[in-house]
Amino acid sequence: MSTTTRPLVIGNWKMNLDFVESVHLGQQIGVLLKNKPAEHTDVVVVPPFVDIRSVSSIVTSERIPVAVGAQHVNPNENGAHTGEISTSMLKRLNVSWVLVGHSERRSMYAMDDAVVASTLRATVRSGLQGVLCVGENSAVRDADGQGAFVQGQLESALEGLDEKFREQVTVAYEPIWAIGTGATASSEQISAMTTFIRQALRRLEMTDTRVLYGGSVNADNASSIISEGGVDGFLVGGASLKAESFCAVIQACNDCYAGKR
Ligand code: 13P
Repeated sequence: MSTTTRPLVIGNWKMNLDFVESVHLGQQIGVLLKNKPAEHTDVVVVPPFVDIRSVSSIVTSERIPVAVGAQHVNPNENGAHTGEISTSMLKRLNVSWVLVGHSERRSMYAMDDAVVASTLRATVRSGLQGVLCVGENSAVRDADGQGAFVQGQLESALEGLDEKFREQVTVAYEPIWAIGTGATASSEQISAMTTFIRQALRRLEMTDTRVLYGGSVNADNASSIISEGGVDGFLVGGASLKAESFCAVIQACNDCYAGKR
């Protein structure tokens, strides 16, 4: 982790937890963060759409120090897009972050690079923070093509992005073969890709962009990845569904940042 960048931990709840369960988890996270504040770390929870209103309400009313995100957004402002949600709808619910181009959306819901780019633009133009998700599958990794693949994803989403929106972008490197598999990338693999991504971002004049890692991050491996992997935080799936493991990941980032300052 760099010494100057505040770490960021995002919990992607994916298609898990109904609104009652979501509120319960949000409250549990609130209690743990109250007992052990993570004052150096930014935290975001990303519930399913139908839970957002309830989670936003308890975060505000109980002053839980987390921001609320959405897992996806439609790039159009409104209209005939059955089943979709717009940026303005999210903003009305105090959403401030959006995951853009998660690999599950790319692979299962036909989100190609062009749609990812237009979604990212709509997200930042509306004032929201966009988390651009990139990462290769195992076939690309086996052929040692991860660098070129991720570079292509970054360039297609970020080239031509207006300078004034750059600071609203975070990049999350999530190798598909590590997502939900328990096969976490090694710190060396993460560090190599983080360095590569930062070089690509520098060419796009995005030197301050935070780079996160996602893929089977948990309470046991977060400390070593944050101290050795060169990342600024995590995008957490499965381990974000339990308050204890999610908060352990947050504390690992917080401790690392505090120790390095
Ligand atoms: P897991 O942490 O469950 O591997 O999921 C990672 C992810 O896809 C977060 O967006």
